[in-house]
Amino acid sequence: MDDVRLLKDVYANDFLIGFAQDRMLPQYEHLIRHFNVVTPENAAKWERVHPQPGVYHFAVVDQLIEDAEKRGMKVIGHTLVWHNQTPAWVFQDEGGNPVDRDTLLARMKEHIDTVVSRYGSRIKGWDVVNEAVADDGQMRQSPWFQITGFEFIERAFEWAAQACPDVELYYNDYGLADPKKRRGALDLVRRLQDKGIRIDGVGIQGHFDIENPSIADVRQAIEDFAALGVKVMITELDLSVYPWSERRNLYAGGLPEDVSRKQAQRYAELFRLFREYNQVIDRVTFWGITDFTSWKNNFPVVGRTDHPLLWDREGQPKPAFWAVLDPDGYAP
Ligand code: XIL
Repeated sequence: MDDVRLLKDVYANDFLIGFAQDRMLPQYEHLIRHFNVVTPENAAKWERVHPQPGVYHFAVVDQLIEDAEKRGMKVIGHTLVWHNQTPAWVFQDEGGNPVDRDTLLARMKEHIDTVVSRYGSRIKGWDVVNEAVADDGQMRQSPWFQITGFEFIERAFEWAAQACPDVELYYNDYGLADPKKRRGALDLVRRLQDKGIRIDGVGIQGHFDIENPSIADVRQAIEDFAALGVKVMITELDLSVYPWSERRNLYAGGLPEDVSRKQAQRYAELFRLFREYNQVIDRVTFWGITDFTSWKNNFPVVGRTDHPLLWDREGQPKPAFWAVLDPDGYAP
């Protein structure tokens, strides 16, 4: 493996190449060197970093940032405001009833101030708001939206900017290749811009699969967001070997060669596309490192064996790896 070119060098003139992980584990060191940016997969989420009122746990994120800095890597913050992995107390009063708008916004501000200012510009950019649009393109009916309407989004961006003026601010969501959902997210970005609220980039979560979305839809998403003048990032890339409607556990014993080749082919097509847009794409981040620890082994089917990443369960490079390393040269 030692003579293999590194992904970050191959794409040095195109975009940053990232991975998600809470800790830099020594057994993955030979894979970690392929990347020049890391996103904490869970450690900076509200439930981890701020599990109870007034209680903050920063140790894991502190360590990750230190380990990244030692390696000359950048760090992305994920995520400040989300409906998942946020403790129930955030939205409730002591009697368990929904809090009012001012209380919720005050809690959000305190959280953003504390977390963003702790790291300042040691974090390159934050996913300020995550997944606020529903699959039909309407706003997601989360407690955030039900209690404050659009206000939580507008204030989150403003308060993050105040807490650290030189950290980049992103909106991050999945399903943005789908025209309906994309419309909702585009409206959201425009709404912030119209109000003079700074937003620097949009993260297109790349939770794709072996069949969908089409390359044409991904291309359209990149073009549409770039047209708003924001940076585009592919933030959570993985390519499930199961189409969305497939719920069986078909590949527990290993990935058949034809499926593995098809996956590699799609990775090659995606990276050819990303390269075409290297003027607007700032970063491509894989969601995990090896197939062994990928979240896709538990989503959308708990305990199902998936194979969405570039390295297999033993940390060996898959055809997908070679496809990403040389997307033009890749022939299945
Ligand atoms: C996932 C993590 O990978 C899992 O370990 C965790 O159990 C659930 O969250 N969209 C996001 C990510 O923005 O934070 C999610 O990460 C995957 C979907």
